[in-house]
Amino acid sequence: MVRNNIILVLMFLSSLFAANVQAEGDATRGQELAEYCVDCHGDDGLGDEDIPPIAGMEAAGLRKELMDFKSGARVDEYEMMVETAADLSEQDITDLAAYFSTLPGK
Ligand code: HEC
Repeated sequence: MVRNNIILVLMFLSSLFAANVQAEGDATRGQELAEYCVDCHGDDGLGDEDIPPIAGMEAAGLRKELMDFKSGARVDEYEMMVETAADLSEQDITDLAAYFSTLPGK
């Protein structure tokens, strides 16, 4: 009984820790993943006339847009982002959001 409770407490603590890591995102890992994004969005993430800027967006907003592309709640005309987001895990998206939110925006 005591042993079960200890296990439950440990599970609870580790879930808190996991949620925490995920909410913040790892900008360093995000930067590595971003190599692919900058092909379209530009090295500085500021985009061009056809591609919207993503640098300097708030992490939570960036994350939401990417999750929406992934879930199909948002569909772009040429499905560039739908296809891109389909290959990203939730952790990838969180890390990418952390990275692009640290770049200076327009
Ligand atoms: C093949 C080109 C291409 C690649 C690669 C690409 N994007 Fe995009 N991205 C676009 C286009 C085009 C749009 C505009 C979509 C629309 O019209 O709604 C867009 C839109 C977005 C938006 C929404 C911006 C807003 O203002 O709502 C975010 C966020 C985004 N991209 C992030 C990323 C991230 C992160 C990556 C790398 C994993 C990435 N993109 C890779 C072309 C690309």
